[in-house]
Amino acid sequence: MGTLTGSPSKATEPLDLGRVFGNLPPFPAVALRALNVLSGTETSLRELCDLIRPDPVFTGEILRLANSPLVAFSKEMTSVMQASMLLGFRRLRRLVMTVGLRSYVEKSIAPALRGCWRHSVACAMIAERTARWNSIDRDFAYTAGILHDIGRVALATIGPQLYADLIEKASTDPAWDVLHGERDSFGIDHCGAGRLLVTAWKLPEEFIAITSRHHEPLTRAEDATEVIRLSCLLANALGFAVAGHPSLRGCAEIVAEFPESVRKHLPSAEELAAEITKEISVIESASGCAKSGQNELS
Ligand SMILES: [Fe+2]
Ligand SMILES: [Fe+2]
Repeated sequence: MGTLTGSPSKATEPLDLGRVFGNLPPFPAVALRALNVLSGTETSLRELCDLIRPDPVFTGEILRLANSPLVAFSKEMTSVMQASMLLGFRRLRRLVMTVGLRSYVEKSIAPALRGCWRHSVACAMIAERTARWNSIDRDFAYTAGILHDIGRVALATIGPQLYADLIEKASTDPAWDVLHGERDSFGIDHCGAGRLLVTAWKLPEEFIAITSRHHEPLTRAEDATEVIRLSCLLANALGFAVAGHPSLRGCAEIVAEFPESVRKHLPSAEELAAEITKEISVIESASGCAKSGQNELS
């Protein structure tokens, strides 16, 4: 049986998945616990601050982003409490989830995951925007977009070179079935891996459907999983595919799959891609130098 340390090097070696997943680094505790803080309650903002402040890395990253062009307040933010008052609960939790995924991906040694992080942010931004006209909570939709491909991170952590090879193959052949390749190499695809992870992390049940069923055919149901299916496809079509290959389906074709109530509010593909590119580059440049929480000045 394979183990986390004896990571898979060939397709024929079966993995003890329960043991391997039990040994993976956990998603940052701050971000996981932030998922359980209910928005809109009187104490929610204070609870969120209390989660962030003891964690120096999170504090540093949140403050860097809060002072970046992403937020664009004229006043410099020097503490998490001050940032929370200016940002409000929804935007603060959005930052917590973005920083959480980035720090989780950075713990993995697989360079192939850079594309995965960008794809997840793109999917989250599209999901947040489209959920607004789809009676799905936009805060939840953003978080679901951030987490939907978390199973890829798990597989890449278990077998970095093996996963990099899969991404490489997908980048040269967009028609190749990555899920099939994952099952061949790891005995499980990233949807199954995502299900195991969110179950192990005891996340709300909705995340199980999102991580494990986001590659199933479109259903036209007005639920969060369908929002993520469409957002993931549109992220690919806009140029934010995990493997960086051109999407087989164009933007117009994917946008036509959205309900009319959503379509009429969507900006052009160029505007949407520019918006996402800007946000990703701001986060990457802000995070690149955030290594500690010495920014917490008061
Ligand atoms: Fe996926
Ligand atoms: Fe995706």
